[in-house]
Order: sequence, then structure tokens, then C-alpha cells
Amino acid sequence: MTKAPATLTLTLADESDTLDLGRRLAQGLSPSCRLYLHGDLGAGKTTLVRGLLRALGFEGRVKSPTFSLVEPYEFSSLSLYHFDFYRFDEPTELRDSGLLEHFDGPSICIVEWPSKAGPQLPPPDLEIDLSPRDDGGRSAVLVARSNRGEHWLEQTLR
Ligand SMILES: Nc1ncnc2c1ncn2[C@@H]1O[C@H](COP(=O)(O)OP(=O)(O)OP(=O)(O)O)[C@@H](O)[C@H]1O
Ligand SMILES: [Mg+2]
Repeated sequence: MTKAPATLTLTLADESDTLDLGRRLAQGLSPSCRLYLHGDLGAGKTTLVRGLLRALGFEGRVKSPTFSLVEPYEFSSLSLYHFDFYRFDEPTELRDSGLLEHFDGPSICIVEWPSKAGPQLPPPDLEIDLSPRDDGGRSAVLVARSNRGEHWLEQTLR
């Protein structure tokens, strides 16, 4: 019997809660880990990444990679790629883009719109689905998809 994935549902009342979740996720980062972010346009995916990058010490403007497809970040002890695959229409576009090689190395990969990337995208360690609430806030469902993802989830809750 396969084990059910570890999941956690959080209410994010406002933008600062989303930034804070990003900050807490930064505590559990390890080389080559993968975080995939689901949720409609404006759900708060880039906001969460901004909180995570701030926690790592990045002070510049966090650009949405909607047009560039990827924004790279270098820190003293790790490197990170922030992808956004919203603009992909065909599952072959990821392969043709040459970006898949980034998923084989030690860099951390955070992906917005992984559903647009097609089946070639390797599976995540952790995925988060953000959705709007009637009160204007967001719900976040976090699902661990690997042992490392479970560990990451535990560290995020500390
Ligand atoms: N918990 C929250 N409650 C209310 N508003 C929020 C919350 N988190 C983020 N927001 C707001 O949602 C808006 C859109 O956020 P963001 O750009 O991060 O969305 P996104 O999911 O990356 O969208 P896209 O798919 O277009 O890239 C921002 O104005 C942000 O302030
Ligand atoms: Mg975004």
C-alpha cells in the first residue's frame, strides 16, 4: 500500500501571510529541491516566492518570470531558478526551451504554472495550490510528494 502524501491546509489572510509562508519555506530548502506552485492568475504565487527570496537575503525587485520564463538567483550557499511556464501552449515547448537541464543540477527549482509544462517536467518535492477565499484572502494547500518534501513541510511548520 502506498503512503498517503502529507498535506497541510493554511489560511493566508493577506499578502503578509503569503510572504511569511515563503519565508518559512526558505528554512527547509536544500540543493536540487523542487517547489511547484499552482493557482490561477493573481493567486499569490510570485508573492510567495518574493517572501522566500527575501528570507534568503535578496533585496532587489522580484520580477515575475512570465515573459522571461526563468529568473536565476545566486546566494552564497545555493542557487535558485524561479520559472513561470504560463506562456507555454504545447507540452513540447519545455523540451525545446532547453530549460529542462536546470532540473538535473543542484539548483533549487521553483515553478509557477507547472501544469502548462507537460509530462516532461520532473515531479516536485513539494507543491502548493493557492486559491482565493470569499473574504479576500487565500487558501494554501501544501502537499509533500517525496520524503524530502515531507521533511521540508515539517521544517516549514516549525
Ligand atoms: N493571502 C493573500 N490575501 C490577499 N491578497 C494576496 C494574498 N497573497 C497575495 N495577494 C495579492 O495577490 C496579488 C497577485 O499576486 P501574485 O502576483 O503573487 O500572483 P501570481 O499567482 O503570481 O499570478 P500569475 O499567475 O499572474 O503570475 C498581489 O496583489 C498580492 O498582493
Ligand atoms: Mg506570478
